[in-house]
Amino acid sequence: NVRVLTGITTSGTPHLGNYAGAIRPAILASREPDVDAFFFLADYHALIKCDDPQRVARSRLEIAATWLAAGLDPEKVTFYRQSDVPEIPELSWILTCVTPKGLMNRAHAYKASVDQNVAKNEEPDDGINMGLFSYPILMAADILMFNANRVPVGRDQIQHLEMARDIAQRFNHQYGGGREYFVLPDVQIDEEVATLPGLDGRKMSKSYNNTIPLFEGGAKALPQAISRIVTDSRAPGEAKDADASHLFLIYKAFASPQEAAEFRGELADGMGWGDAKKKLASHLESILAPLREQYVSLMDNPDRIEDVLQAGAAKARKLATPFMQQIREAVGLRNGA
Ligand code: TYM
Repeated sequence: NVRVLTGITTSGTPHLGNYAGAIRPAILASREPDVDAFFFLADYHALIKCDDPQRVARSRLEIAATWLAAGLDPEKVTFYRQSDVPEIPELSWILTCVTPKGLMNRAHAYKASVDQNVAKNEEPDDGINMGLFSYPILMAADILMFNANRVPVGRDQIQHLEMARDIAQRFNHQYGGGREYFVLPDVQIDEEVATLPGLDGRKMSKSYNNTIPLFEGGAKALPQAISRIVTDSRAPGEAKDADASHLFLIYKAFASPQEAAEFRGELADGMGWGDAKKKLASHLESILAPLREQYVSLMDNPDRIEDVLQAGAAKARKLATPFMQQIREAVGLRNGA
């Protein structure tokens, strides 16, 4: 069977970008025949950028409820919390010891933080913790622990996937002795939604504060957020280029090709931006309302979510425990049988 795996960092409220870039393709993949799916809450990753315990706990609940509301079947999928599988940080340490520092120096997220500091005339590494620096190694451990073949993610994760492959290859080469301990994972990207734009046209991201929340805030939050989408100054009656508009790109990510073609035509015919926003809002509401209902009832029942995660952790550890033992043997920490 093909193994499909993906995770979401529990440091914020799930938004349309998380859904279109990762959750929706992951759930579709989990329904394919001959697929074993592993979806998880990356709560250790959350500590890198969030030191508010309540935010992390709340986000964990929101993200778990989002996966379930979006149709994840916990009977079929191994659905767990990263921190319930202690073999993952253990593997992360062993992988840390085969990873060249130079590889981490090249990571986009780390480099972007350094560049920001330099631009502000601060010390390059000011405010950067070691978690941020070695973030891609923990992510490699997430993926390699379950020998995932396919990892559905948005474009911002491609470099992390390349690093996971690099680290897997190094380990196999150094300790394999002819055996391939780790499978080299492939990225699964849907080019159409690999970078869903946010309100201001940049990538939708909690760090840019430009997100449209999936469910939080109820039915009111959707039109409110959409009213803040930045558009050009073309008046009603003037022709608009759909493909130059991030409002349209958001619509397209949630529409059939026919629906998108129709909207493109209406914009070209001079539909005003106010009406375009109303159209986007009502379209998204028709898709998200039934899921939001599930989400709200799950959020009211955190005990049920906890039970699901505990059962998922047990399934995950059934694989992780014996595999980690083999890895310990491979590196000489335990004697082989
Ligand atoms: P995170 O939590 O930032 O985002 C979760 C997923 O959502 C995707 N995404 C987007 N896709 C399209 N357009 C956007 N605007 C957009 N914003 C976010 C991300 O690409 C991601 O797929 N490091 C990961 C979490 C992680 C992980 C893993 C993923 C930890 N371990 C192992 C896969 C496999 C992250 O912080 O994603």
